Amino acid sequence: MSMKKFSHAERIGSGNANPSGTAAELVPPRASLEQLETAARDCEACDLWKLATQTVFGEGLPRARVMLVGEQPGDQEDRAGRPFVGPAGRLLDLALGRAEIDRTQVYLTNIVKHFKWSPAERGKRRIHKKPRYSEIQACRPWLDAELAIVKPDVLVCLGASAAQSLLGREFRVSQQRGQLVESALAPHVIATVHPSSILRAQDQDSRHLQMEAFINDLKKVAQLLKASIKKKRAA
Ligand code: URA
Ligand code: SF4
Repeated sequence: MSMKKFSHAERIGSGNANPSGTAAELVPPRASLEQLETAARDCEACDLWKLATQTVFGEGLPRARVMLVGEQPGDQEDRAGRPFVGPAGRLLDLALGRAEIDRTQVYLTNIVKHFKWSPAERGKRRIHKKPRYSEIQACRPWLDAELAIVKPDVLVCLGASAAQSLLGREFRVSQQRGQLVESALAPHVIATVHPSSILRAQDQDSRHLQMEAFINDLKKVAQLLKASIKKKRAA
């Protein structure tokens, strides 16, 4: 039996029932990370799935002690189906290494799980577009479910989109980066810049300075991690 292929128009007309306007109805109760990831593959809670290749769910061990939250997958993440595997991810890997944070202790995810883009005026490049507030809200149940399973000791917001969505619209990364923030989301919460902002630096010198500042923030994360591991051992 052949599967019916849906046209673009039919897809727009379909969509999973989501009376809340968010992914909440799609999140299976008492699920594992794998089960969440599987359920998120079919998410149509906002329109972003229509443009993207696939859902890019978070990645890492359920016992990871640090959760890093970015904005949304980029072009390469959309193709690979994995978060932070493109240029920003490579820069992040470098910085984590310099801060001596072990990748296996980190769970990587995004506030929005589909790549939002528009075609470049010339050429085939897909240009990243900022997600809207409604899209971030629609996707939030997936992140909340990840948080409920991983229960990280340290939650790190990468960039303004993640910081403002998780810590409030008044949050200013430029002023509050690297500082501990009071939040019910995790015992320790901190925000820093998004690695892609470093890729956009005007010249080599400012890029170097921004990278050092980013590494410095991640070193604070490393300290928090060490302190919380020590505390657990003592308990
Ligand atoms: N930028 C993000 O915020 N997330 C990714 O996964 C990749 C790039
Ligand atoms: Fe669902 Fe999030 Fe994708 Fe929107 S961006 S369709 S809420 S997974």
